[in-house]
Amino acid sequence: MATEQKVQIHRGLRDVLIDRTRSSFIDGDVGKLLYRGYNIDDLATKSTFEETIYLLLYSELPNREQLDAFDAELRANRALPEEVLSVISITQKSHPMDVLRTAVSALSAFDPDTEDNSAEATLRKGIRLTAQASTIVAAHARIREGKQPIAPNSSLSHASNFLYMLFGEEPDPRDAKLMDKDFILHAEHGINASSFGARVTASTQADLHCAVTTGVGVLKGPSHGGAAEEVMKMALEIGDESNAAAYVADLRSKGGRVMGFGHRVYKAVDPRSIHLMDDARDLGVRKGQPGWYSILEAVAKVMEPYSRRGICQNVDFFSGAIYYLLDIPEDLFISIFAMGRIPGWTVQVMEQFDNNILLRPRLLYVGEMDVEYVPIDQR
Ligand code: ACO
Repeated sequence: MATEQKVQIHRGLRDVLIDRTRSSFIDGDVGKLLYRGYNIDDLATKSTFEETIYLLLYSELPNREQLDAFDAELRANRALPEEVLSVISITQKSHPMDVLRTAVSALSAFDPDTEDNSAEATLRKGIRLTAQASTIVAAHARIREGKQPIAPNSSLSHASNFLYMLFGEEPDPRDAKLMDKDFILHAEHGINASSFGARVTASTQADLHCAVTTGVGVLKGPSHGGAAEEVMKMALEIGDESNAAAYVADLRSKGGRVMGFGHRVYKAVDPRSIHLMDDARDLGVRKGQPGWYSILEAVAKVMEPYSRRGICQNVDFFSGAIYYLLDIPEDLFISIFAMGRIPGWTVQVMEQFDNNILLRPRLLYVGEMDVEYVPIDQR
């Protein structure tokens, strides 16, 4: 029997390698992130979401013809079945992540490949879900305000079309470019908690819709994707950069955590946050609201002693300010993360299927043993 003395418990699976991957590489000590070997800095500044997810899904950058065909496939798959729009309508009062989770699950009823776990079918489903997720999020945002959902516009890119379906007008190309970059930065990140959840589901040989439904559920928590929403709430509460130090001191004195800081793997810098930091600053100036960036900058300054101990700003620290400045409602922030991450969950699931082993760790039992059962009327 396993005992405390005989076994080592890896609580939180910290630093445990559970398999090999070719999808993304993270060096948390220097703050380096590669997708299929390509540096995230190059992809964020030179690529598009469509091209980046082609790279993730097909393991190589596309040529022009391949990219056009892939983009056309994404655009052709954006519409939702009427029944799924009804599901969104029925669940409209729930948090957008709960609606997304439910609608992804419901889409399995209409997908021609639902229970086909071949690589080709999983890829097709990943492309469809990537395209459909943005329509789910935008449609829900409108339905809950009593407005009609806006049909996807196949002349627009993935990011532009999302903003178009959300707001009802074609976005400023600079806003669309920011959204596109944000999706690139969120597309894949190794065996993070939601990808692990998706892999556990896939390891039982359940299908991609089940795995993505799991991923959305796991991502929702404030320790993972929910942090961007919490960061913006914090900025609103702080109200002015001069209040940042007092706010952080008060929060820490109560044992609270500063949202958007800390990461299980990054101990130097989260390279994604650097891009978003610059974008949040520039967008604030462009929208005539530089104050939000100043508040976050002040929080980051107060947090410098933490950064020196490896608790650095993460991807969620500045993304919330960007979404806020783009007029996106706060409770949609995690859904935007999820929309970007569907390709990442898809490649993780494909890798799991490719060389599957049931993910089934163990727990050390520390409870009572061989307790005598007493009938209810004698207790
Ligand atoms: N503020 C203050 N202290 C922190 C923070 C923070 N944001 N994050 C970690 N710490 C401290 C912990 O209190 C702990 O201190 P202790 O050793 O004195 O008890 C130490 O750093 C280590 O913390 P752990 O919880 O063990 O680190 P872990 O790797 O498990 O946690 C996590 C990572 C969950 C992201 C954590 O840093 C956190 O809660 N951050 C705030 C939420 C957040 O921003 N989440 C988004 C993460 S990025 C993403 O998922 C996309």
